[in-house]
Amino acid sequence: MEEVLIGIKNAAVSLILDAQDKKELEALKLQFLGRSGKLTLAIKEIPKISKEKRPEIGKLANEIKFVIEQTLEQQESGIRNQESKARIEKIDYTIPGIKPNIGHLHPLSQVLYDVVDVFKSIGFQAADGPEIETDYYNFEALNIPKDHPSRDTQQTLYLDTHDTKITPGEVILRTQTSAMQGRVMEKIKPPVRVIVPGKNFRYEQVDASHGFEFWQVEGFMVDKNVKLTDLFGTIEYVLKKLMGEGSKIKFATTNFPFVEPGVDTYIECTVCKRKGCSFCKNSGWSEIMPAGMIHPNVLKAVGYDSQKVSGFAFAIGLSRLVTLRYQMDDLRLLTNPDLRILEQF
Ligand code: DAH
Repeated sequence: MEEVLIGIKNAAVSLILDAQDKKELEALKLQFLGRSGKLTLAIKEIPKISKEKRPEIGKLANEIKFVIEQTLEQQESGIRNQESKARIEKIDYTIPGIKPNIGHLHPLSQVLYDVVDVFKSIGFQAADGPEIETDYYNFEALNIPKDHPSRDTQQTLYLDTHDTKITPGEVILRTQTSAMQGRVMEKIKPPVRVIVPGKNFRYEQVDASHGFEFWQVEGFMVDKNVKLTDLFGTIEYVLKKLMGEGSKIKFATTNFPFVEPGVDTYIECTVCKRKGCSFCKNSGWSEIMPAGMIHPNVLKAVGYDSQKVSGFAFAIGLSRLVTLRYQMDDLRLLTNPDLRILEQF
């Protein structure tokens, strides 16, 4: 019996060590350890052996089973290692990889960064403010009392103040970044040079040149002896830096309650070069930068002495500036997430 067992062990170990793949190993496992495997059958014979010899043979059979199992395991892990080595050797490291898609700044951000840079170069600081604003800063502090007709042009979106202590109508989505004039000037004494880029909201019919949500860069400067010519010079300098030195600019008078006099700035339509198109409503010019000398009532509301200081204010229609710069004939393209559009910038 002893010899039989040892013979099985020797045969099993040498066959297992010769096995080349997992399939062969599986077959050998069955051949020796399976239900009718050679070792299993031999073990079944053990009860027939004499009582004295039985423990010794039983122990030997167990040891042999253990050795066969160990050998199987070792050989299997050896085969596994070889297989993964072969797989690695198959990889061709010289094949070029897949390039990741790299994004870039949205055209609105690109132009905004340019605007901020130009103003920084002439001493302006950028400030940020809330899009949810109070009636006071958006209107009252800007010399637009409750019954002022100019409120009609600012299709205001009012926030629901139900269940709050806020008086209905007092909290709105800001309609103009000019709302930051009061907030900034209450905190800083002149000299002040600040720009405020930001989004505004109006209940407006959307078309090629109007959006219900649009970007402006408000700006204002207050100091001793600031004059209208300083405003003209600043606007011209900034627009030429942003739109090219050859840009044609013209000014016209206009009316805003928070400036006196009020100035409208027009730039030659870059879409049609004054031939007339839907973007400029066939006028050949695009309104780009309303402005004016800050009204004394606005200065008074923030506690400035309008006898001692004066200032100007302006707003750049940023969305408009982007469409003009890139000759886009529709403002709505700026909020279109289609990559075929965005990849052109
Ligand atoms: N806030 C005005 C608007 O959105 C634009 C504007 C006009 C701003 C004249 C100014 C200004 O600072 O001086 O309609």
